[in-house]
Formats: sequence, structure tokens, C-alpha cells
Amino acid sequence: MTFPAAFSARGADRQTLADALEDARARTLLLITPLNDAELRRQHDALMSPIVWDLGHIAYFEELWLTRNLDGPIEFVEMPGLYNPNEHPRRERGELDLPGLEACRELMENIRVRVLTRLGRVDFDTDSPLLQDGYVYHMVLQHEYQHNETMLQTLQLKQGMPYTPAVRWPIPAAHTVSRGDMLRFPGGEVELGTDDLAEAYDNERPRHRVVLRPFRIDVHPVTNGEYLEFMSAGGYQQRGFWSDQGWRWLEETGALAPLYWARGGDGWTTRTMDREGPVDASHPVCHVCFHEAEAYARFAGKRLPTEAEWETAASWDGTTGTKRRYPWGDAPPTRDLANVDQLTFGTAPVGSYPGNLSALGCSGLIGDVWEWTSSDFRGYPGFESFPYPEYSQDFFGTEYKVLRGGSWATRPGAIRNTFRNWDYPIRRQLYCGFRCASDE
Ligand code: AVJ
Ligand code: FE
Repeated sequence: MTFPAAFSARGADRQTLADALEDARARTLLLITPLNDAELRRQHDALMSPIVWDLGHIAYFEELWLTRNLDGPIEFVEMPGLYNPNEHPRRERGELDLPGLEACRELMENIRVRVLTRLGRVDFDTDSPLLQDGYVYHMVLQHEYQHNETMLQTLQLKQGMPYTPAVRWPIPAAHTVSRGDMLRFPGGEVELGTDDLAEAYDNERPRHRVVLRPFRIDVHPVTNGEYLEFMSAGGYQQRGFWSDQGWRWLEETGALAPLYWARGGDGWTTRTMDREGPVDASHPVCHVCFHEAEAYARFAGKRLPTEAEWETAASWDGTTGTKRRYPWGDAPPTRDLANVDQLTFGTAPVGSYPGNLSALGCSGLIGDVWEWTSSDFRGYPGFESFPYPEYSQDFFGTEYKVLRGGSWATRPGAIRNTFRNWDYPIRRQLYCGFRCASDE
């Protein structure tokens, strides 16, 4: 393990951290409220864990990093046993001898009591990079947030009765928006990534300069309406729109539409959790894989943005030459600013959040759907693994594509302009869509 160079110790607020831990747990438990024991223990899809596995894994990850690893040298980076993701690949987790909900909740509570006791006497004024600015607490919080989104993917894939949320926020009424517009970035030197050591993951560091060529990027993510035009034009039938790898995926899967779409009497219908209805042309397209995004872009005479272009469109204020933490500025996302934090349980019509605009003028970069980029998941120049290579480094290479911007299922603490998500280019169970870019 490599630690970043020495820095001065600063404090972190115990009460704020305790409140955040409580909020994270309240949300996890809210999401599982409507589920019975059988639904929690069942493996609903080979791609996903049984929900109780996520719960136990959240708890043991917390115990490991917020008790054991604070008190001595880092012995493990994942708890050995049942909840170790590397010992048990997802497709096998249905066969594990997992506890029922009651036992699992007891285990979560016991761990939490010990974590809070330890937090009461933790010394943040140290040189330990784990404790610096409360880093390890933020890491554990983000881990729970990210597993919440994983659980929501499982709940959408769920077998049997569709999942009915216990609480639901209304989706704001649509605003009139121009469609198809692109914005131009004139090119030049910009800064990517961050040097933040309090919250950012290792893969977001270090901050570094790159020179970009001029490009254009869509104001909005691609909508269902636009995607339907691609489908009507024979998008899924025309070889020319697809890469070799994409065409292979198409031939193997026989896909004809985004995941969760079905052909109804007159047109396509789709389902999000317990809500089913005609595909709404005004929403961003969701549940398409990288290959479908790429094929659409080729159909539209465009391409996918690189992650450098995406981050520039989201964060770069060209008039001041400074970088914003979120598209609209430095204030964290709220339910009024962007479609995040899970409880809308679905996408919103593009342009529904008028404040969700970047300096360049792009709308909806954060929230609604993760956006595929054309970039492979790689370390930035000068990358240092911290605090463990199994979080990011082990996934660097050409197998994974980067997604940006978070979705409606992302908690605000797990998204920012520099945040990098990644998955295989064939995956569609994520809440993922895209927007296009072009040269000049
Ligand atoms: C960043 C979403 C790809 O789910 O594999 C959860 C997040 N890492 N536990 C994943 C994560 C460890 C990760 N992704
Ligand atoms: Fe995990």
C-alpha cells in the first residue's frame, strides 16, 4: 500500500460523521422495508447478490475499516469469509449460507455500536492518511451508498412481484426544452481529477492538466424519443452502426430494445420497479449498454464523449479557468437541484431540473442516468493506489468503460464531477444512458 506524501493533520467532526452513518443506515433499511425474508435471501439474478449479502457486506466492510484497520496495521482490505467479494463471485452468492433478516440486522447493529464507540475516541489529529479529514469514514459511507444503488439494480431485476417502494418523491413537471442542441467547447488546457484527500477515491486523483481539442457535446442526455428514431431507422439491424464487439453482443443477445422494454399493442412499454407504461419520449433513455450507446452515436453522426470531455463539460468554468465540484457550483446535490438520492424511483423528463446546468450550459450531467463515455478505466498519470488496490487499480485496463454523473439511484454523497464509475461495455442493469459528442 502506498500512502500519499506527508500533509498536515486537520480535524473531522465526530457528530457530523455519526449523523451521516445513521442517515446511511436509515436509507439502507428504508429500501428493504417492503421486502420479506425470502425476497431478501433469494438470488434474483446471476449478476447480483442476494440483498442480505449486500447488508452483511456493508456491515463487515464498516467493521473492518472503522474498527480493526484503525487500531493497527492494515491486515485485510475485505473481511475474510462469507462477505468477501473476491472469495465469492456474485453468481455464486445465492448458494452461500446467509442469515435471515433478523440475524443480519442484529449483526449490523452490533457492529454499528462498536463503530460509534470507536468514533468517540478516534484521534483525527494524526498523520494517518486514513483518518486525515475523516477519509476512512467518508470511504465507508460511500461504500454503503454505492451498495444501495447495487441493491436498487437487484430490485429492478427482482423475480416475482415487482418491488413497491415504501416512500416515493414526486418527479417534477417537465419544462419545455430544446432538443438535439449541442454546445461547443473551444479546446485548450483544462484540469481533470482532484487532489482532494477527504472524500475522493484514489482513481479520481491526482489533479492533472490536459489539452483538449475543440468538441461539441449534447445539452441533454439522449432521450427515449431520440432513441426510438434510431430503432425505427433499423438501428438494431444495420451492421454499419455497430463496432465488431458491439455486433457480436447483438448477435449473442438478440437485443431489439433497451433492457426492460417490451413491445405493446401500439408502441413500446417499459417498467421501472412497480410502474409500467408506454415509453415516455421525454425521459433520458436508460438501461442501454455501451455498445448500444455507441451504435446510436454513429447513427446520429456523432460519437461518445471521452471522460475528459465529459468532465470538462461538467466542471470547467472557462471564464475563470476554475473547476466546479458539481455542474452548478460547489453546493452538494439536493432533490431540487438534480434527480438523485433514489426516492423518485425513476428518471425525469430531460430539463426537469432547471438549476442542473454546467458553466458550459449542459443540463442533467448529474442525476437521472449514468452516462457512458468512450474511455477505458485507467489510472491518471501519477496514480497511487489508496487505501487498497482492490477498489480501483485491479480494474484498470481495457475491459471496463467509464460512466459519469450518477443516476436517480445514486446518493448525493457518492457523486461529483470527478467521480468515476466503471463496468463492462455489455452491462445494462445499471441505471445507464448517455449523451453524444462530436469533433467541432
Ligand atoms: C464502483 C460501482 C464499480 O460495485 O463493484 C462496492 C463499487 N466497490 N464495493 C462495485 C464498490 C466495492 C463498485 N463500482
Ligand atoms: Fe463492496
